[in-house]
Amino acid sequence: MKPLLATLLPLLTHALQNLIIDTDLFSDVDDAGALLLACTTPDISLLAVNVNYPSSYSALAASAILAHYGQATTPVGATRPLTDEAFFDGWTFALGEYASKGAWDAVGLYRRALAGSRDGVVVVSIGFLDNLSGLLNSTADEHSPLSGPELIAAKVSELVVMGGAYPAGYEYNFWGGNASLAAHVVNSWEGRIVFAGYELGVDVMTGARLMAEGPPGDPVRAAYTYYTYNTSRPSWDLLTVLYAMHGLGDVFEYGNPGGYNRVAANGSNVWVDDDSVRNQHWLRLKVSEEEAAAELERRLLEGAWSAVRKTASRDNQTPDL
Ligand SMILES: *[C@@H]1O[C@H](CO)[C@@H](O)[C@H](O)[C@H]1NC(C)=O
Ligand SMILES: *[C@@H]1O[C@H](CO)[C@@H](O)[C@H](O)[C@H]1NC(C)=O
Ligand SMILES: *[C@@H]1O[C@H](CO)[C@@H](O)[C@H](O)[C@H]1NC(C)=O
Ligand SMILES: *[C@@H]1O[C@H](CO)[C@@H](O)[C@H](O)[C@H]1NC(C)=O
Ligand SMILES: *[C@@H]1O[C@H](CO)[C@@H](O)[C@H](O)[C@H]1NC(C)=O
Repeated sequence: MKPLLATLLPLLTHALQNLIIDTDLFSDVDDAGALLLACTTPDISLLAVNVNYPSSYSALAASAILAHYGQATTPVGATRPLTDEAFFDGWTFALGEYASKGAWDAVGLYRRALAGSRDGVVVVSIGFLDNLSGLLNSTADEHSPLSGPELIAAKVSELVVMGGAYPAGYEYNFWGGNASLAAHVVNSWEGRIVFAGYELGVDVMTGARLMAEGPPGDPVRAAYTYYTYNTSRPSWDLLTVLYAMHGLGDVFEYGNPGGYNRVAANGSNVWVDDDSVRNQHWLRLKVSEEEAAAELERRLLEGAWSAVRKTASRDNQTPDL
């Protein structure tokens, strides 16, 4: 038998990976799958979720998903002003009981979450970059005396962005929001930044197993069913969050040794070769698209069922008096 301390020590010293997710949970369902992964993967601490699409339904859906996977205390932020534009209408209607949760101001939530965290936070952007632009331009407030760039330098270890195409292209997340703000964030970010491009996820098709074998009451399974009519979807955001949680692992490699990304005012991007710049990368798959899909499906199913097991064991507990 190991001495108790030797058994406990790895647990005590093993730090959780802090994550903030910025999502356009609205027009595609892979954002929902990405939240499932982030909520149910062990050793991940989800500090905050910001929604960069202004529909109030998006913020409600994010709250519903977080609550389902036992992350009801994770604050949700939203861009303002909120609209009542509907997309996942049936879905949010079905999950309306979680709707009472208020959404934070997105930039305020970034500042609060970063100020309150130790360093080493990974920020994952799987939608538009408007709120990150707001964070970069933010100044001292009640959360922190630091400016946006100072707060980022102190707390953020890496920004992981689903956007663009590599080595060059014209992709939705950069042009579909405010393209000049996407350019502002990418072109002026000083820390480490890693990109997941259009080509990375477009042929990695997931959702089929979650829909066929997932728990009946799972909200993300329901979202996939509503959105895709039972067919699989590309996995841009899932892959981006997988990298943000676990790094390159066995699934990814960097597509470039050096250089940096440049986003034009219209949202198109191009990789600029420059061996003197070493803190920017774009991702490539190290495995086949089928293998990457199988790994994501396995994680989606495992995560979805783990939430059911947790609820069941909670319900079976004898109350402690
Ligand atoms: C981001 O979020 C803030 C706060 O919700 C909002 O006021 C702003 O319009 C958004 N965009 C930018 C660029 O700050
Ligand atoms: C944000 O900062 C950039 C760079 O300093 C500046 O060009 C831009 O005008 C600012 N945007 C806003 C909305 O203040
Ligand atoms: C994009 O953001 C800039 C800076 O806040 C603003 O001046 C411009 O009007 C915005 N463009 C659109 C299309 O909203
Ligand atoms: C999707 O699958 C479910 C469950 O098998 C079924 O009830 C539903 O009709 C299917 N929908 C479509 C559009 O095929
Ligand atoms: C966007 O702007 C860049 C730089 O000005 C230009 O090279 C590119 O052709 C434009 N792309 C689109 C799709 O308009």
